[in-house]
Amino acid sequence: MPADARRAKLHSISDYYSAVQLRADRWSGLRQVADSLAKSDPDGKQATKLKHKAQAYFEALEPIETYWAFPGVAAFDHMRRELDHKNWDDLAFSVRRVVRALTTGAYRRRHVPLARDDSEAEEMEDESTLPIEARALARPYFEVLIVDSLGEQQERWLRSSLQRIRRTEDPFICEPVLVPSLEDALIAILFNHNIQAVVVRPGLTLKSRNTLPILTRYLRPVDDEGVDALEPSAYASELCRLIAKARPELDTYLITDRSVEEVAGMDLGLCRRVFYNQEDFLELHLNILRGVNARFKTPFFTALKEYSKQPTGVFHAMPISRGKSISRSHWIQDLGAFYGPNIFLAETSATSGGLDSLLEPHGPIKEAQELAARAFGARQTFFATNGTSTCNKIVVQALVSPGDIVLVDRDCHKSHHYGLVLSGAEVIYLDSYPLNEYSMYGAVPLKEIKRTLLELKEAGKIDRVRMLLLTNCTFDGIVYNVERVMEECLAIKPDLIFLWDEAWFAFARFGPTYRLRTAMNAAGVLRERLRSAAHAKKYETQQSELKDANTETLLKTRLVPPPSARVRVYATQSTHKTLTSLRQGSMIHVHDQDFKGEVEQTFHEAYMTHTSTSPNYQIIASLDVGRRQVELEGFEFVQRQVEAAMSMRRAIASHPLLQKYFKLLTAGDMIPDEFRESGVQSYYDPEQGWVDIWQCWAHDEFVLDATRVTLAVGGTGWDGDTFKTQILMDKYGIQINKTSRNTVLFMTNIGTTRSSVAYLIEVLVEIAKELDDLLDEASKMERLSFERRVKTLMEDPPPLPDFSRFHDAFRPNDGFGTPEGDMRAAFFLAYDEENCDYLALDGSLKTEMQKGRELVSASFIIPYPPGFPILVPGQVISKEILEFMRALDVNEIHGYRPDLGLRVFTDEALAKHAGITRPKAAE
Ligand SMILES: Cc1ncc(COP(=O)(O)O)c(C=O)c1O
Repeated sequence: MPADARRAKLHSISDYYSAVQLRADRWSGLRQVADSLAKSDPDGKQATKLKHKAQAYFEALEPIETYWAFPGVAAFDHMRRELDHKNWDDLAFSVRRVVRALTTGAYRRRHVPLARDDSEAEEMEDESTLPIEARALARPYFEVLIVDSLGEQQERWLRSSLQRIRRTEDPFICEPVLVPSLEDALIAILFNHNIQAVVVRPGLTLKSRNTLPILTRYLRPVDDEGVDALEPSAYASELCRLIAKARPELDTYLITDRSVEEVAGMDLGLCRRVFYNQEDFLELHLNILRGVNARFKTPFFTALKEYSKQPTGVFHAMPISRGKSISRSHWIQDLGAFYGPNIFLAETSATSGGLDSLLEPHGPIKEAQELAARAFGARQTFFATNGTSTCNKIVVQALVSPGDIVLVDRDCHKSHHYGLVLSGAEVIYLDSYPLNEYSMYGAVPLKEIKRTLLELKEAGKIDRVRMLLLTNCTFDGIVYNVERVMEECLAIKPDLIFLWDEAWFAFARFGPTYRLRTAMNAAGVLRERLRSAAHAKKYETQQSELKDANTETLLKTRLVPPPSARVRVYATQSTHKTLTSLRQGSMIHVHDQDFKGEVEQTFHEAYMTHTSTSPNYQIIASLDVGRRQVELEGFEFVQRQVEAAMSMRRAIASHPLLQKYFKLLTAGDMIPDEFRESGVQSYYDPEQGWVDIWQCWAHDEFVLDATRVTLAVGGTGWDGDTFKTQILMDKYGIQINKTSRNTVLFMTNIGTTRSSVAYLIEVLVEIAKELDDLLDEASKMERLSFERRVKTLMEDPPPLPDFSRFHDAFRPNDGFGTPEGDMRAAFFLAYDEENCDYLALDGSLKTEMQKGRELVSASFIIPYPPGFPILVPGQVISKEILEFMRALDVNEIHGYRPDLGLRVFTDEALAKHAGITRPKAAE
C-alpha cells in the first residue's frame, strides 16, 4: 500500500489544533497497533494489515520526531527496523516504553532503556506519583537545539562530543536536538517546549524539507520577514534575530567563522554569546548551563528559604513567626497541621532583619524585580502584594495630577474609578461597543479614542491630556491591537501615557502570538520603530499627505506618530490570576522613556501611599518563583492552555446535543465585522477545521482570546447566574466567576488539563440530556413556560446604556463642550448627606425625570453582573440608564439601596457647587 494511502487511514491532521497533541495521539496509536501485532499470528492476514498501519504511524511520526531529543532519531530508526524484521514483541515493548516515558516524563529524569534484554529494563515507576520532595530534588531537564547541516558521520561525532563533556556535577540534564536549517530551527522552538537554548553553527541552510502543514504553520510569522532573499552568510544572524522575536526567553549562542568586526555589525537579537572556536564544547556547555541557571535562580525565594533555616529569637510583633503562637496553643494546632511548619518559619518582615524590604528594595527583592522585568520585557518591574487593584491606583497616582485629563474605558475595573477620584483627574469615559444580545460590552473602538483626542486638540486642551487607560484583555476576552492604538494616539498626542490593565493577561507574554498584543512587547517594538530612518521617512510622507486633512480623513487614516514621540507605557498584571503566585501577587511593568527623569520620585510616593508596611513575604517569594516558571516553561504551559481551550471550543461547537441548548460564542459573535479585517469568524469550523489565528492576531482591530470560552446558556431557560450557582456549582462542583444575563464564562488557565475539559463537556452533555428528558415529560403549560423563559433571556435583553455625561456643575464652563468631568468634586460633594436625596426607581425618580428634572447620581452604582459602574458620581441619569436598571434582574447592585432608592444630588447642592466652581456661568 502506498505511503499516502496508509497515512490517510489515520486520523486527519486537520482534526488537530496542536502538533503536541497530534504527536501524543500518534504514539498511543502506534502502541495499540504494536500491542495487537505482538498478539497476532505473524503470518496471518491480520498481521499484514497491522504492519501497514504501524508503518503509517512511523511515517507520520518521522517528520515530527526530528524535533525532539527523546526517544531520538537512532531509537526511532531502531524501532522501525524491529517492525521491518518482524520483531514484534520487541517492538511492542519499546513502543510501550516510549509512550510511558513520554506521558510520565520519565525521560526527563533518567535514561529510558528501550531494549527488552537491557539489564536496566525493570518497570519504571510513574514519575507523577513520586513524593513532591523527591521530584524537587531531581535535576531539571532541558533540550538544546543545535542548528547545522551535517552529514551522518559528523552528526555522530558532534553528538558524542557533546555527551563526553557532561559532568555529574552539572545542575541540569541537557540533551541535544539537531536540525539542519533556519526554518527547522523555528519549527523546533515553537513545537518543542523542552528547548531552552539554541546553538547556531555556521553550516546551517535556509529551507526545511518538512512539509507537514501542522508544523510548517509555525513559519507563518516569518512569512513577511523576507528570509527567502537572504544571502547564506546572513542565515545565522537572521536566525538569532528571529528566535529573539519568537521566544525571547531562550538563550541563543552563535558559533561563527566570520571576523569579529563583521559579527559586531549584525543584529543578533538577544544572542547571549558569540563563539569563534567551533570545537570548544566544554566552554559552550558551561555557558548553556549558566544561561539556564540565570533563569532558574530565584533570589528572594532562595533568601527566604535560607532565612527560615536560621535559628532566631523573636522579639518582634509577629507571634505567628516560627509557629510559636501555634505550637504553644491548645486550640489552634490544626492551623499548623494544615499548612506545615515552613510557612511559619518563613514568616518575617523587613524590620526583623536578614531580608530585603519591599518598600526600599536593595537586595534579593530588587534582584527578583529586575529578573521579572527581563522576563516580561519591561524596563522596570515592581511587585505588589495587594493585587492589581492597588497597582492601578499606584500608577494613576504616580502620573496624574489634579486637573489632568484621563481617557478611560467605562467598563474598566473599579480600582481605576477610585484611583481617578483620588488623583483628581478630569475623567473622560469612553464607551465600549455593546453586545446587547449577551448583555456585555466589547472594547473601545480606536476611532472613538481618536475622535475624542482630536476634539480635545481642537479645543486647545490636548496639553492637559495625560493618560489613556484601557483594559486588555477584557474580562470576556476581547483583545486590543495595542501597538496600533498607541501608534495612532501618539500621532495626535506624542507624549501620551498609556496604562494597560493586563490583570488577565500576564500569561500572554509567553505565547508568541499572544505576545504581539501585550503592552511591553508593543512598547519595545514602537521604541525601535520610532528610531528608524524608514519610520522618519514614512512620517514625513504622511505629514505632507495630511496637510489640510479634516477630522473624518484623520479618523479613516492609519496615523503615523512623529519620530520624536515618547514611548510611555505601563502595564499592571494580576500574576495570581493567570500564572503561579499566591493570591494578591501582582506586578507593575514599566516601559517609560521618561521614567527616570520625571516619574521615579512620584512613583515612589505613590507606591508608599498604597503599599502596606507589612507586606506578605510569601507572596513576594511566589512572584519570584512564578517568574522562574514562566521563563522556563511559560511557553509550554500557555501552549497547553490554548490547546485545552481550543479542544473545548471544538467539542462544544461540534456536539449535536449541546447545540440544542447552548451556543459557544465565537469571535464573530463577540466582535463586529468592522473590527475583524481578517474576516475570521471562528477559530474552529466543523467543515474547514482550524483557522490559522496568526493572521487575525497580527492585523485585526480586536481579537478574541481563545482561552476564555463564553457559552450562551439562555437556551436552557436559566439565566447566567442561576446556571452558575445552582447547576454548575451546587450540582457538579464546577466553579466559574463571570456570568452575564444569558452567558457564562469558562476561563482556562495554565493548570487546565485535557481531563478537566473532558469533565466539563461530560457535565454539559448531562445537563442537555436532563433537559431533553424534562421537556419530553413536560406538560403543555410547562413547555410554554420554558419557551417563554428562553425567549426572554435570548431575545429581549435590555439595551446596554452608554455613558450619558457629567452634569454641567462638574464640567468646565469654557464653551468647548468637551466631555471631561471632575469626578472627585462630585464624590466628595456626596460626603455631606445634606447634598443628597434618595429617589425610588419606580416612583419619585421616574416622576421627577418625566417632569424634566435633570437627576445626577451621587454614588457609583455597580450592578453585578456586569460588574462595572452604570453610574458614577456626577453623572446625569439618562432615560436609557433608568430603563436598564429597571430591567436588571440581578441580586447585587453595589451602591444602590432598594429600601431607599437611588442616591442623587439635590438641585440646591448642584446649583451651589456650580456657583462655586463656575463663576463665569454665574455672571
Ligand atoms: C480588569 C481588572 N483589573 C484589575 C482587577 C483587580 O485585580 P486584583 O484582584 O489583583 O486586585 C481585576 C479583578 O478582577 C480586573 O478584572
